[in-house]
Amino acid sequence: MNKLGAVWTVLLGSAFLLCACGEEQPDVPDKSYIGVAYYNQSDTFLNELLDSFKEQLKEMQNEDMDTVVMVRDAAGVQRTQDDQVKELINAGCDVLCVNLVDRADPSEIIDMAREHEVPIIFFNREPVAEDLMQWDQIYYVGADAEESGVMQGELAADMIKNNSQTDRNRDGKIQYVVLEGEPGHQDAIIRTETAVKTLTDSGIELEKLSYQIANWNRAQAENRMEQLIGQYPNQIELVLSNNDDMALGAMDAYKKLNYTETALPVFFGIDGTDAGLEAVMDSELAGTVYNDKEGQAKAMAELCWALITGDGMEELEFQKERCIYLPYAKVTEENADEFIARSNTP
Ligand code: GAL
Ligand code: CA
Repeated sequence: MNKLGAVWTVLLGSAFLLCACGEEQPDVPDKSYIGVAYYNQSDTFLNELLDSFKEQLKEMQNEDMDTVVMVRDAAGVQRTQDDQVKELINAGCDVLCVNLVDRADPSEIIDMAREHEVPIIFFNREPVAEDLMQWDQIYYVGADAEESGVMQGELAADMIKNNSQTDRNRDGKIQYVVLEGEPGHQDAIIRTETAVKTLTDSGIELEKLSYQIANWNRAQAENRMEQLIGQYPNQIELVLSNNDDMALGAMDAYKKLNYTETALPVFFGIDGTDAGLEAVMDSELAGTVYNDKEGQAKAMAELCWALITGDGMEELEFQKERCIYLPYAKVTEENADEFIARSNTP
């Protein structure tokens, strides 16, 4: 055989092999990679949300499609998260789900994703509108902070109106403190403002004693609350907390100081985490506002699926073009069991 003949044999042979591989393909499940980057693994609400996300993706899988989720924790450092996103893109992720550390600083992540054409779903920590408009493959899944503040204010107003003993010193005013999440987070500033405004608008006279920042964290809240109790012994009647973990931390502080139940203020949280819902059932928290983690996780999973397969985008309901906001709901002792049930089914 001459040289040309040998080349043809090799080429035909490879073509045959390629065809053979092509025919095999339908039996091999397609793997898709979803990269998840979140701001801090010590955050209770986000851990519960991500558990639900993984469960729901698993349920959506079929024999033609298999998803692999790769999760990275930035431990509160934006630079670390930028590096993690780069690594996730290099590892071949088809979609990115990003819970920014600094919600005002997504540019580096957007640039990298755009360069490699990997769509981004931001979640829970909302980038500002201009950043969401930087590219048409950017989505956001979350909830409306104002709605949660209004609901917390309404829950507290109902409680105060129906329980005159909430005003323990009977001066006609409710002495309160606020435990706030991270400064600069949409859910911290807006929840506090709207909760207080809703209470005042409903005719309740308030007296703000103080506030403390506890970064969504139970242990930090316990510590800050101890300081507040020291500063205002027996004066605090209401604790408004931007989330459940901090409300529970405030309660921990009172328990540690051996306060009797009748001397306790009333506590309100937001989230309806597992521990938060239990505390509402046990009447330790007077109420909370359900931050629909299952709904948010489902929207993220459906959006990932639609971006990967190209199917189902029309069924998703967007606001502001590419944002999905799930509604909050009020939780009290009367309906807490419904939410516990919801939380136990992904
Ligand atoms: C809020 C939630 C907080 C915390 C925070 C993190 O929506 O209520 O508990 O998880 O997000 O960004
Ligand atoms: Ca009072």
